[in-house]
Amino acid sequence: MASSCALLFCLAILCCSFLNSAAAGITTGPIHTNGNNYTHVCDKDRFASLGLNIDTFAYCDRTLPFPDRVADLIDRMTLAEKIAQLGDQALGAPRIGLPNYNWWSEALHGVSWVGHATYFGDIVPGATSFPMVILSAASFNQSLWKTLGQVVSTEARAMYNVGHAGLTFWSPNVNVVRDPRWGRILETPGEDPFTVGVYAAAYVRGLQDVEGQEGGSGVDPNARPLKVSSCCKHYAAYDLDNWIEEDRFHFDARVTEQDMAETFLRPFEMCVRDGDVSSVMCSYNRVNGIPACADPRLLNMTVRGEWDLHGYIVSDCDSLETMADGHHWLNDTKEDTVAQALNAGLDLDCGIYYPNYTGSAMEQGKVRERSIDMALKNLYTVLMRLNFFDGSEVYKSLGVKDICTPANLELATDAARQGIVLLKNEGNTLPLTSNKKKKFVITGPHGNATNVMIGNYEGIPCGYVSPLEAFSKEVQVDFHHGCWDVPCGDGGLIQQSVNAAKTADATIIFAGIDLGVEVEGKDRTDLLLPGLQTQLINQVAEAAKHPVVLVIMSAGGIDISFAKENPKIGAILWAGYPGEQGGQAIADIIFGRYNPGGRLPLTWYNGDYVDKLPMSSMKLRPVDELGFPGRTYKFFNGSTVFPFGFGLSYSTFSYNVTSSAHWIDVKIRPGKNCPPLHYADGVDAPGCPSIEVNTLPCADNLVLDVEVANTGAVDGSHVVLVYTKPPAGVLDAPLKQLVAFERVFVPAGKKAVARVKLNVCKAFGIVERTAETVLPEGQNTVVVGDGDGSVSLDFKVNLKY
Ligand SMILES: *[C@@H]1O[C@H](CO)[C@@H](O)[C@H](O)[C@H]1NC(C)=O
Ligand SMILES: *[C@@H]1O[C@H](CO)[C@@H](O)[C@H](O)[C@H]1NC(C)=O
Ligand SMILES: *[C@@H]1O[C@H](CO)[C@@H](O)[C@H](O)[C@H]1NC(C)=O
Ligand SMILES: *[C@@H]1O[C@H](CO)[C@@H](O)[C@H](O)[C@H]1NC(C)=O
Ligand SMILES: *[C@@H]1O[C@H](CO)[C@@H](O)[C@H](O)[C@H]1NC(C)=O
Ligand SMILES: *[C@@H]1O[C@H](CO)[C@@H](O)[C@H](O)[C@H]1NC(C)=O
Ligand SMILES: *[C@@H]1O[C@H](CO)[C@@H](O)[C@H](O)[C@H]1NC(C)=O
Ligand SMILES: *[C@@H]1O[C@H](CO)[C@@H](O)[C@H](O)[C@H]1NC(C)=O
Repeated sequence: MASSCALLFCLAILCCSFLNSAAAGITTGPIHTNGNNYTHVCDKDRFASLGLNIDTFAYCDRTLPFPDRVADLIDRMTLAEKIAQLGDQALGAPRIGLPNYNWWSEALHGVSWVGHATYFGDIVPGATSFPMVILSAASFNQSLWKTLGQVVSTEARAMYNVGHAGLTFWSPNVNVVRDPRWGRILETPGEDPFTVGVYAAAYVRGLQDVEGQEGGSGVDPNARPLKVSSCCKHYAAYDLDNWIEEDRFHFDARVTEQDMAETFLRPFEMCVRDGDVSSVMCSYNRVNGIPACADPRLLNMTVRGEWDLHGYIVSDCDSLETMADGHHWLNDTKEDTVAQALNAGLDLDCGIYYPNYTGSAMEQGKVRERSIDMALKNLYTVLMRLNFFDGSEVYKSLGVKDICTPANLELATDAARQGIVLLKNEGNTLPLTSNKKKKFVITGPHGNATNVMIGNYEGIPCGYVSPLEAFSKEVQVDFHHGCWDVPCGDGGLIQQSVNAAKTADATIIFAGIDLGVEVEGKDRTDLLLPGLQTQLINQVAEAAKHPVVLVIMSAGGIDISFAKENPKIGAILWAGYPGEQGGQAIADIIFGRYNPGGRLPLTWYNGDYVDKLPMSSMKLRPVDELGFPGRTYKFFNGSTVFPFGFGLSYSTFSYNVTSSAHWIDVKIRPGKNCPPLHYADGVDAPGCPSIEVNTLPCADNLVLDVEVANTGAVDGSHVVLVYTKPPAGVLDAPLKQLVAFERVFVPAGKKAVARVKLNVCKAFGIVERTAETVLPEGQNTVVVGDGDGSVSLDFKVNLKY
């Protein structure tokens, strides 16, 4: 969102000085217009107070189906009234009983103050602030993701009921992390498009679904009730904010169709098809020359047509201004911009261009009234489904008592515990046994972290448990900042920490980065710890006699090879940005009350990775001529600090995998042309190299029973990651691709079975250069787990005429 960017970073960054001039009409402070005295539109008394008889308004007649009610509402509006509803701060039409509505609320990891509809204060001082998404994602626990959505939407509905929030939340952010420098990694579920898509569907279902009315056959998806409305953003190929000379308001992402289908669109498709999300937001950037919010192919044809969105498409905030003033697309006038966006299928403008210029665009003959009606229909159908008009029976009892409850705070703590990743644990340094007599040194810029832990798109939290506070509750703590702040430009405090560590029973160093380094509007230029943090860590570790634990707070990976290799640092934890209860979760893990099971949702590259390719090159695959090394675990084959999926436990696990089949025969229609694949030199291409999955019924499943044995002495949760690999010699394909994952709890010395059902087309399909998904002939491989303990199984695909 640009306006949030303006709120948060206005003084600091280029994007916002651009926006200030571009969007002079936008108010950027919280506007408390949601303090309405009604909880639903179709209230007899409210109508009466406007001098209207509600019985004469069919749109308020609950006995009619939504399409009829929506049609009645739109029919009653004058053209000017219609146009006044097309911006996020929709003005309403008092003449016909329609109140104003602020569309913009956010709930990325808890209800946020960002947007125009939500505010904190008086009776709602705060809401539960869960970990940033990158950490919750690391749990690889789908039911956690859905539960988070359910609890966030309960707090959101409660806030709506007391006039403190809207009903339409523009979350989650499901852009794939293509490059480790991206400033918005914290908001996302990481680098794997499949994981991001699964997260999207689970979180969206948690936010939106009304229990018992989740949809299914026989249910009209445009009438299915919504708890709150969710929105998958930013569509599409958006993952560069501000890097050297490129910024998102001018950037043209040059993307191949193959990368589009395989990586950039996939989470959005899963969000729409599997999550049945009720909104998609288009992004600021251009995609192959065309601004995303003006591309009929991306919007109307793909999201609405091919994927069958049941909901509305909204622009990123002020992205229509950006289109004209930033991209200068086709030398646009404001009216052309509005016309192009409306005709592409953009229903709602987060901004003021639609309300201001749709009228003149019509006068110039560039917009049909029918396009406006279609947009309004999409918008009001969602508000009908939210019970904006009728009031919600199911949720009417929710109120202040349902926000910041002990159960919600416990979920925030548990989400952080489930996500935290144990990166190193030499000689079982961890867990430490809690002992009140022991003296701990806590040091480092994040030792007393509070607001750092809740990242961005945050709300006002219910409170904080900082690491310092959590540890002080159970051991004697000697706290030394070590560095005053994250940039750590001044080494003046290091010696105090060094001296303290010399006599401590245990030393815990809290290092990392924060929103000053990685955030919306700001990409990183290196992957290192800032300033003198490395020096602090090394000097403290050198001086300390006793266990030294390093805790890193960050979203993107950091090259901490020095600490990984330093024998004086016994253990390393990655804690993401762990939310308001973060300190408690870290203490629970360090003292062994919780056995860590999180896995890195993205690759931690070596520091020199960023010198090898510009952030503005969108390609995922290596580009040999340019020396580009490839991106993400799927295409980067070099060494890393920690690979995707990495994460240790206090216990050890082993697998025994049984498979329901080892081959499949696929019958091909005689005469059918088989799409060619590219093979390495010396590999003979089979007669029929591959088949497009969209020509197959795709009903076959491969069932894996993965028996997970906990061979250690500690109970724990273990994440089973299942990858596939295409036949050897097939070029241009991923090295491997994640196709399923399951988090299972296994008591010490016991076994648990994760049953994984793989659809053959989805699990073994690869996206070819033509952007077609094909099933490759030959010996495919299923790999369960990573590294030493992994188990490989062959799965032969026989394509037969
Ligand atoms: C939109 O219209 C209002 C009222 O006429 C004006 O103040 C504002 O500057 C306009 N905004 C833009 C971005 O054109
Ligand atoms: C709501 O009611 C209060 C008191 O009854 C009144 O002061 C306030 O102006 C009303 N707000 C709106 C938006 O009508
Ligand atoms: C997954 O998350 C749910 C919801 O928080 C939790 O109850 C469950 O224990 C977690 N599963 C594992 C295996 O950790
Ligand atoms: C395009 O816009 C620029 C100013 O932004 C103007 O100088 C130029 O004449 C315009 N070109 C056309 C073809 O309208
Ligand atoms: C979107 O495409 C459909 C056909 O697929 C068409 O009927 C509709 O008018 C299009 N909408 C817009 C806004 O262009
Ligand atoms: C830790 O942070 C809290 C909240 O910002 C502050 O009140 C407290 O003084 C800090 N403690 C130390 C030792 O710096
Ligand atoms: C890694 O990829 C590069 C570039 O495609 C290739 O030259 C190299 O052989 C690959 N290395 C391995 C170990 O596969
Ligand atoms: C693996 O599972 C199979 C089938 O259940 C069983 O026969 C075999 O003994 C198991 N192997 C191990 C090492 O547990």
